[in-house]
Amino acid sequence: MLTTQLRRLGRSLLTRMGVAAGAKVRPQGLKAVNIAFVDLLKGVMPHNEAMEIAIGGNFAEIGALELALVRHYGLPRDGRLIDVGCGSGRLAKPLSEWMTGSYLGLDLVPDLIAHAKSIAARPDWRFEVVDHINIPDLDGVADMVCFYSVLTHLQHEQSYWYLEEARRVLKPGGRIVFSFLELCQPVHLQIFRDTVELAKQGAVAPMNTFIDRGTIEVWADELGMEILDLRGGSDAITAEGALGQSICVLGKPH
Ligand SMILES: C[S@@+](CC[C@H](N)C(=O)[O-])C[C@H]1O[C@@H](n2cnc3c(N)ncnc32)[C@H](O)[C@@H]1O
Repeated sequence: MLTTQLRRLGRSLLTRMGVAAGAKVRPQGLKAVNIAFVDLLKGVMPHNEAMEIAIGGNFAEIGALELALVRHYGLPRDGRLIDVGCGSGRLAKPLSEWMTGSYLGLDLVPDLIAHAKSIAARPDWRFEVVDHINIPDLDGVADMVCFYSVLTHLQHEQSYWYLEEARRVLKPGGRIVFSFLELCQPVHLQIFRDTVELAKQGAVAPMNTFIDRGTIEVWADELGMEILDLRGGSDAITAEGALGQSICVLGKPH
């Protein structure tokens, strides 16, 4: 999670990255902020390390958890997965060894997409850069659309817009799996407190967003989708353990 990883980086590094008070130039807009954050990391650490830290680190461990969850929630091995905000390939890498079907990975940041494409090493898969909120695919083609630690960095209207896009590209019976932060989880509340501190320092970093379950219920109603599962971040849903972020699974009617 971004705030956790920023805290780990330490204050002197934050200052070098320009996230401490006094940073003069603030990037504007979703894409610019995400690119600026990756560029700042690239400026203070080796490229490959920056690619992993930019999306939250713990690459192998979280990647295995993310894969276990899409499998647990019914992704067919030979199906089609769209991974929105795929970052540098934390899921794509382990998925590439299991999945025989097709995959579309989307992200705002060209460097992250290039890294994901390279480590997944699947010439048959698509990796594409998007500019704002967009799933460049046909209606009704995907078995599952996942958003791991993505709606955690969007405004609510942007998240809902993406969920509409996801519903459009899903086959009847297809599923959306998204992770989220909620203030009722003690660990997420600490992230909120850290986020307040970073805001006071004028941090150049993607924002953190918290979604309550009542909001998800309204979104599901508006989308005409069913909430198939809703789990707290400390729940070990699979044998691999708990993801840390809470999980919601929405089903598109048949
Ligand atoms: C915390 S990272 C998580 C990456 C990946 N899902 C994972 O779990 O390893 C969030 C990612 O979402 C991407 N992102 C943020 N807003 C996006 C948007 N509107 N469209 C596509 N990607 C977005 C960021 O660039 C970043 O790579």
